[in-house]
Amino acid sequence: MTGFTALRLWEDLPTPMVGEASFLGVMCPETRTVRLVTMIEIDSLTKRYGAFTAVDDVSMTCQPGKVTGFLGPNGAGKTTTMRIMAGLTPPTRGSATIGGRRFSDIPNPGRHVGVLLDASAQHGGRTGREILTLGAKQMGLPASRVDEMLEVVSLSPQEAKRRLRHYSLGMRQRLGIAHALLGDPEVLILDEPANGLDPAGIRWMRTLLKSYADRGGTVLLSSHLLHEVEQIADEIILIGHGKIVAQGTKQELLAGVDQALSLVSSLDDVALIAAANAAGYAFERAGQGLRISAAPADVGRLALEARVVLTDLRSGSAGLEDLFLELTSETQRETPHTATEGGAR
Ligand SMILES: Nc1ncnc2c1ncn2[C@@H]1O[C@H](COP(=O)(O)OP(=O)(O)OP(=O)(O)O)[C@@H](O)[C@H]1O
Ligand SMILES: [Mg+2]
Repeated sequence: MTGFTALRLWEDLPTPMVGEASFLGVMCPETRTVRLVTMIEIDSLTKRYGAFTAVDDVSMTCQPGKVTGFLGPNGAGKTTTMRIMAGLTPPTRGSATIGGRRFSDIPNPGRHVGVLLDASAQHGGRTGREILTLGAKQMGLPASRVDEMLEVVSLSPQEAKRRLRHYSLGMRQRLGIAHALLGDPEVLILDEPANGLDPAGIRWMRTLLKSYADRGGTVLLSSHLLHEVEQIADEIILIGHGKIVAQGTKQELLAGVDQALSLVSSLDDVALIAAANAAGYAFERAGQGLRISAAPADVGRLALEARVVLTDLRSGSAGLEDLFLELTSETQRETPHTATEGGAR
């Protein structure tokens, strides 16, 4: 992607939305004035399947130049929200716009929005190269773009000749990412893109998406795995039971989490317990050591003052993981969920 193709977006967008959320400045070539365009904006989105509400009054924005992580447990409503964004599922209420337009109203959408929803959704009898070639033709792109993308996602010429039904999960995922990037879009919407990738592949994808965002692109990626999102996302949106339960940067989310918990091992637990007691910190046995309700710095100071040698000291707070589990606890399941089938999928 080059310096960021905002001007192209302008040409296609006679009436960009101007609002107060998060915007991309877009220069109009004729008037040389800058207009502001929201890249992804979801407003009061609801999706019901019969009596079941899969997406419940969701509002959010994704900003250009940032990776936004869409995090939630199984069945939280991530894919449904993304399908609505990509015009594949009609919403019951509310709207999802990209650059101020609904996906279905964007001319040649693949040139603006790269979508990866289900890497296996392509025809299994086509080769990887055929799938990309068809995509390139549909978007009016030169055939050379196919080779470029195969190289970007590290699919070898041999692998590109193989039929999709013989692709491994990770290879399908790489092809899906190649397909999403084909039209050099300004926005990427990726549903569980790391699914099936090996550790090197996950690292590669992280670097790819970071540099894409650094060049001004907007990335929304979903995952049910906190660590995956935590490592890459500038903004995190937590969804549970179809509802947004928290959003912000990792630091903002962590600000609401109690960090005062330490795991500690020492050469003299009796003395350390006495010191913790005297300081008014609660404690309990944890494995070979102690769990003390105080931040690691405070426990370190306590041990220093009590002249106790520590052999291990670390934070016992699971931070974001605790927050994630707590905020989405209603949707954590112990028994398999039976979904109502049918509806517009
Ligand atoms: N066509 C449909 N008909 C009925 N219910 C549906 C349909 N599509 C999705 N649902 C339900 O909506 C809820 C949200 O599903 P969705 O696929 O959006 O979850 P998700 O957050 O992507 O989960 P996962 O992490 O497992 O991919 C689920 O309970 C699912 O069963
Ligand atoms: Mg999903």
